[in-house]
Amino acid sequence: MSIAKENAAMAAMEFIETGMTLGLGSGSTAEIFIDMLGERVAGGMKIQGVPTSQRTADCAVEAGVPLIEPDKITKIDVTIDGADEVDPLFNLIKGGGACLLREKIIAQASDRMVVIVDDSKMVETLGAFPLPIEVDPFGLSLTADQIYAALKQTGCEEAQTVLRQAKDGSGPLVTDGGNWILDSKCKVIPNPADTALALSQIPGVMEHGLFIDLADVIVIGEADHAKVMELSRE
Ligand code: A5P
Repeated sequence: MSIAKENAAMAAMEFIETGMTLGLGSGSTAEIFIDMLGERVAGGMKIQGVPTSQRTADCAVEAGVPLIEPDKITKIDVTIDGADEVDPLFNLIKGGGACLLREKIIAQASDRMVVIVDDSKMVETLGAFPLPIEVDPFGLSLTADQIYAALKQTGCEEAQTVLRQAKDGSGPLVTDGGNWILDSKCKVIPNPADTALALSQIPGVMEHGLFIDLADVIVIGEADHAKVMELSRE
């Protein structure tokens, strides 16, 4: 377990209060947080969690964190989630774990999104991490062509996409929502909001991994402490 991720997860606890409904993110950092949350629940904290992936749901059950279906709630107080890249304006690339669609549904429905990362995720400009784009398998090559054009038109330095494969070699990776993932090696995404908008207008794109104006707090874990950065959107 990375100590930097652990420090980030620990510092994020200060945003959690008893009685809250929490969005539970996906990935290794979110799982560390969920384990810590389980200890708080065992100590008497009353919260309920909305998982952003089946893997997170399994992890929460194992940690003893109570879960609730998203259709049974009207609001989420705070979502705690990891990220693959974070820029100085709190724009994110997410989806390295293929959970971006559900992560974005839950983040957008939350009053506050707290992102927990180690310091390796902080970048000046997004794009070195391949941008995950969740697509409907139907008409894949047509959608891929439109994605290429959208990335180039919005100034991305490169735009090749690769269809993500399942680790067991069984074929394309299938997301929890039954879709596939194209990873786009953009190298540099100079205008993340423009790229996000252009991708959202392609019918075969179910969702993309650019999270714009969603993160309110970034907690950056380092070897011996965590730094908390807050953005006010008011
Ligand atoms: C899951 O789809 C992703 O968005 C993760 O939040 C992201 O990949 C960060 O994962 P780690 O915490 O494992 O680095």
